[in-house]
Amino acid sequence: MPRFSPLLFLPAPGKTLPRAGRGVAQLVFPVRPIYGILSETAAPAREKGRKQNPMSIQLRPVTAADYDGIFALWNSTEQSRRAMNPVDDSREGIEKYLKRNPSTCFLAYDTGDPDRVIGVILTGHDGRRAIVHHLCVHPDCRRRGIARLLVRQAEDALRQEGISKVFGLVFKDNGPANAFWEEQGYSLRTNLNYRNKSLNDQVPKGE
Ligand SMILES: CC(C)(COP(=O)(O)OP(=O)(O)OC[C@H]1O[C@@H](n2cnc3c(N)ncnc32)[C@H](O)[C@@H]1OP(=O)(O)O)[C@@H](O)C(=O)NCCC(=O)NCCS
Repeated sequence: MPRFSPLLFLPAPGKTLPRAGRGVAQLVFPVRPIYGILSETAAPAREKGRKQNPMSIQLRPVTAADYDGIFALWNSTEQSRRAMNPVDDSREGIEKYLKRNPSTCFLAYDTGDPDRVIGVILTGHDGRRAIVHHLCVHPDCRRRGIARLLVRQAEDALRQEGISKVFGLVFKDNGPANAFWEEQGYSLRTNLNYRNKSLNDQVPKGE
């Protein structure tokens, strides 16, 4: 598996990580295929409640070989477990998804422990609209900007493919995720009903 070297975006000491809407994608990903990097050794956690141990986070595209790592991550959190179903999120299901969307799915890892997946985002499109699936960051690594970085990377990859709009589904009672997506600029559509139909008996309508 190729690794991509940390070259860009080490915030100067005393500077905070950029937030959405301030050109993050351009700052972090000016040249492809160098993927996003977060270094908390360069930008020590200052805010109350932030984790203090230093990490150096990198992103890379997801491949089928990452299945066990991302499945373990999804299973580490109730909000991701409840969004999974036994067909689409099986090894074969994810492999099929990655074949159709090989360049728009990313995972995050700490360079100090590169085999452990600490964040993942799947995005795919039909040539017109993109959908985000199963964004998840390990509970031990939250509020460090990892999900924000994953979203920026995925959006950048979708733009490269000529996609102009992306949406995601979030359980109404998932307060942290709704707060997160709001911060990323994903507006809430109140004039639509989400309707679906299962085409496979193994996938209940609600999953
Ligand atoms: C939602 C989730 C992916 C966020 O990951 P994260 O890496 O902690 O998010 P970030 O650190 O990038 O957060 C960016 C911003 O989003 C907002 N945000 C993130 N988590 C939040 C929370 N728990 N409460 C309120 N706002 C939150 C904040 O504005 C935050 O910026 P700040 O830390 O500077 O205040 C993570 O909580 C998670 O994996 N949850 C379980 C799975 C899930 O619900 N996935 C979403 C499915 S739609």
